[in-house]
Amino acid sequence: MSAKLVVGISGNLTRPSKTRAFVEHIAGHVAKGISGSSATYDIEDLGPSFASARRLGDLDPSTRNIVEQLSDAAVLVVGSPTFKGSYTGLFKHFFDLLDPSSLKGKPVILAATGGGERHSLIVEHQLRPLFGFFEALTMPTAIYASDRDFANGVLVSEAIRARSQQAVAEACRVVGVPSKVSLAA
Ligand SMILES: Cc1cc2nc3c(=O)[nH]c(=O)nc-3n(C[C@H](O)[C@H](O)[C@H](O)COP(=O)(O)O)c2cc1C
Repeated sequence: MSAKLVVGISGNLTRPSKTRAFVEHIAGHVAKGISGSSATYDIEDLGPSFASARRLGDLDPSTRNIVEQLSDAAVLVVGSPTFKGSYTGLFKHFFDLLDPSSLKGKPVILAATGGGERHSLIVEHQLRPLFGFFEALTMPTAIYASDRDFANGVLVSEAIRARSQQAVAEACRVVGVPSKVSLAA
């Protein structure tokens, strides 16, 4: 396992994306907290082979490389826009391709965005069980942000930033680095 890499996976289908920005924001702060680096990928980054892939071997080498980064990461940050009350279908498709044991014990921060507050429990009722299947170590604090928490695609809500900070601190503690990271910037 790379001690320093934080990988973000965002299930957005279009750009610009609030979800991608949100995942990048969290992953960047975890990386800062553990003196590491971060890389965030979305569905577009998975390339043309991804949607039709039925197994890992069907993926382009560059997409296989993303899967390898995921397996090697010290911390994962996963996020999806809410589509019809759940994560996007292609977000699930990505995780369907992974070996069931590939995320065992992996520290994972769960995040989602949505148009409003109605589906905010997507993080607990959809994302957490998926990563429970993988026996990943999901952080207790999961974060949901709605459209009104962003301005021009940037996260502006102080409450959501504070909740993100809580999740970042949890992840830093799990990898053995007490977090003093401030998300004010
Ligand atoms: C097909 C579709 C279905 C959606 N379904 C929901 C939904 O069930 N609940 C919700 O709160 N927002 C829903 N939304 C709104 C998006 O989740 C929201 O705008 C999200 O933040 C967009 O993220 P993005 O900027 O990363 O694409 C839906 C949007 C689309 C396009």
